[in-house]
Parts: sequence; C-alpha cells; structure tokens
Amino acid sequence: MNYTHDLNALEKRFGDVFGKGGELRFFDAPGRVNLIGEHIDYCGGRVFPAALTLSNTVVCRKNGTRTVRMFATDLGIISEFSLDDIDAARTLKWGNYQAGVAAELAKLGCRLEGADMLFDSTLPFGSGLSSSASIELVTALALLSLSGNSAEMTEKLDRVQLALAGQRAEHNFCGVNCGIMDQFASAMGKADNAILLDCATLDYSYIPLRLGEYSLVLANTKKKHSLGASKYNERRKEVEEGLKLMHEALPGTEDRKNLCDYSEDDFTAAKRVLDKEPVIRNRTEHVIRENARVSKAAEALRSGDLVKFGTILKKANDSIRYLYEVTGDELDAMFEEAQYFDYCIGSRMTGAGFGGCTVNIIPAACADEFCRELGSRYEQRTGIRPEFYICSIGDGVRELTV
Ligand code: GLA
Repeated sequence: MNYTHDLNALEKRFGDVFGKGGELRFFDAPGRVNLIGEHIDYCGGRVFPAALTLSNTVVCRKNGTRTVRMFATDLGIISEFSLDDIDAARTLKWGNYQAGVAAELAKLGCRLEGADMLFDSTLPFGSGLSSSASIELVTALALLSLSGNSAEMTEKLDRVQLALAGQRAEHNFCGVNCGIMDQFASAMGKADNAILLDCATLDYSYIPLRLGEYSLVLANTKKKHSLGASKYNERRKEVEEGLKLMHEALPGTEDRKNLCDYSEDDFTAAKRVLDKEPVIRNRTEHVIRENARVSKAAEALRSGDLVKFGTILKKANDSIRYLYEVTGDELDAMFEEAQYFDYCIGSRMTGAGFGGCTVNIIPAACADEFCRELGSRYEQRTGIRPEFYICSIGDGVRELTV
C-alpha cells in the first residue's frame, strides 16, 4: 500500500491528462478510523474517530468552462459533469460523490466554476475507512477555493458546514442515509488526536492519542462493503423502531428524539416492552450501551489506561457483532484470529461493517510480526489475502502548499 502522494509525479500526470500550464493547486482530505462508537452517529450518540494520513489528494485548476472534469489515477478514467445540470451526473460510473457535493454547495449559494481535477487516493476504496467522505471533503474545499468566493461565503462555509454538505451529498445524491461521523472526521481531524464528537449537538473535543509503545494497526479483510447495497439503511429504520418502543415503554419521554438520549438504566426499565421485538431490542441495546462505552473508552484513553481502553474495544466488537449484526464472516475471522496474539490488547471492527477493516492495538515492536502472522492465519481461514496499515493520525481537509 502506498502511503504517500508524490506531488511532483501528480503534477506531471495532471499535465499529461489535462494539458500543461496555468496555476495548479493541491488539496488533501483524509479517511478515518473510528476507535469506538459504531452505528450510533445517526442516533445522536458520541463517537470517537481519528483522521488517518491515508487520504485523497486533488491537483486542480480552473478551466474557464462550466464543466468539472475529473480523473482518477487508480482508475485511469475521465468523468465529467456540467455545473448547469449537476443532476445528470447521478448516472456517472465514477464521480457522483464529487457531483453530489457540488450540488450541495450550489444550494448553499456558493459560486462554482468549472475545473479540471486529478484525484489520487492512498485510501483503499470500500474498506470502511471513509474514502467517500474524503472525496467529498477534498472536492468541497477545492471547488470552494477555486471558484473565487467572497470572504464572507468562505467564512460561512467553515469546515463543519463542508462536512454537513458532504453528508447531504450522500443522502441526496448517493442514496446512503449516513450519519455525520465520517465527514466530520475528514473535515476536522487533527494530527495525533482522536475526536470525541457528540453527534446530537456537533460539540467536539480533541483527545491526544497517546499510545506510548503501542501502535494502531488496521487489518483490511479485503471484503468490500457496499454501503448502499448493504443493510445500512435497514439498520437506520430498525433504530427508529427502537426509539418508538422506548417512547412506548417509558411514557413521558416522547420528546426524546434520539435513542442515545436514553441511559442504560432506561434500557433496563424498558426491557419488558422491548422483549416483544427481540431484533429491535438487540439493536437498541447495542446503541444505548455503545454510547455509554464511548465515554468510558475516552476516559480510559485520557488517563493513559490503554489496557482498559483495549478491553472496552473488544466488548464493543461483541456488541456490534451479536446485537447489531453488521460484521460478517471475514470481519469475524479477522477479529478472532487477532485474539491469538496475547499482546493484542484491543481489537474491533471499524466503520459500517459487512467487510472492511479491524483496528488493533499492538506493541509497536511486534507490529510487523503481527501483520505477517495474522495475515497468514486469516488467509488460511478465508482464502483472502488481507492488507495491513500501521496508522498515523493526520490532519483534516486542507490546501497543501508546494
Ligand atoms: C458509515 C457511515 C457513518 C457511520 C458508520 C458506522 O461509515 O458513513 O455515518 O454510521 O458507518 O458507525
């Protein structure tokens, strides 16, 4: 896996694809790993992601037209859409995240000009590391910056607004009813910090990821998840059912709009009513207890208790696996095989699930061995060769100065 973007090579490639000359600008937006707080961002819960240094970089230039032309270095194809008919881009094979975000910026009154954009990704697509959010955020900042917007507009569209525009692009253009976590992390990430984000209020704080002698290792099952096709939207409906049952079970709480407005004690008090619908009860239990776990995990990390932090992560994996049921054979295999290594003090799936990655806390000195040995155990069991990334935690979306 290539961890870095070679900006000189990208500049040359840009010239080959779109022609030389003009002022080129470079932008970058990261993917994210979610440490804990899974599938609760859309329930008003607290989540704990961190931006990766794996990212999408864009090289771009205004082209003096009303067309946005895009090239992906890994796919080798050009896609384009007209700023005067962005809706037509819904049928693009590649490029609808970009078009979706342009449509949302236009709705906000942002001025948009045609541009040539070359995208280069070090993020594996469909691996639960938010490559789509990264594309949305890098496109949003690039288009906003290239299009000569007033200082007032640029100020109005701060990073949080760009994250919200990215989320709406997923809802309105790509058919995925996602929460705000991925776009927020890609927008607001800070090197060497995790973000404790309250998704009900968008209040957030940074917590330094002090890992001491440990590293975070991502294990990619190489089983692609497809958010749209997956059961993601189905889970969203189930938690709405859960909220209705909580209202029914605890009269007088109907003004609570989010499942995460309920505590673990509330869940216990409501259990008899929830037992009528075992699947909905399980989804509800995951959401409410996961929200409580996030606070405990953040506290453990803040106080430097990595062993406790890791233990909470493992518990969270059981919950997302057995109660929320979004893991699948490959993620389960990767998690189980990691338990063989005594020095692995924490492990869990990360992201939407149904494939993608696990995140593991491993002594840095053992990381290479872990990747090799876990890789061979996983491959023996599933027949799939996995990939591993030793995480560095990077910054959110930004313009690169070259
Ligand atoms: C996807 C979504 C997020 C979040 C996670 C699960 O990554 O985009 O909003 O719901 O799944 O935690």
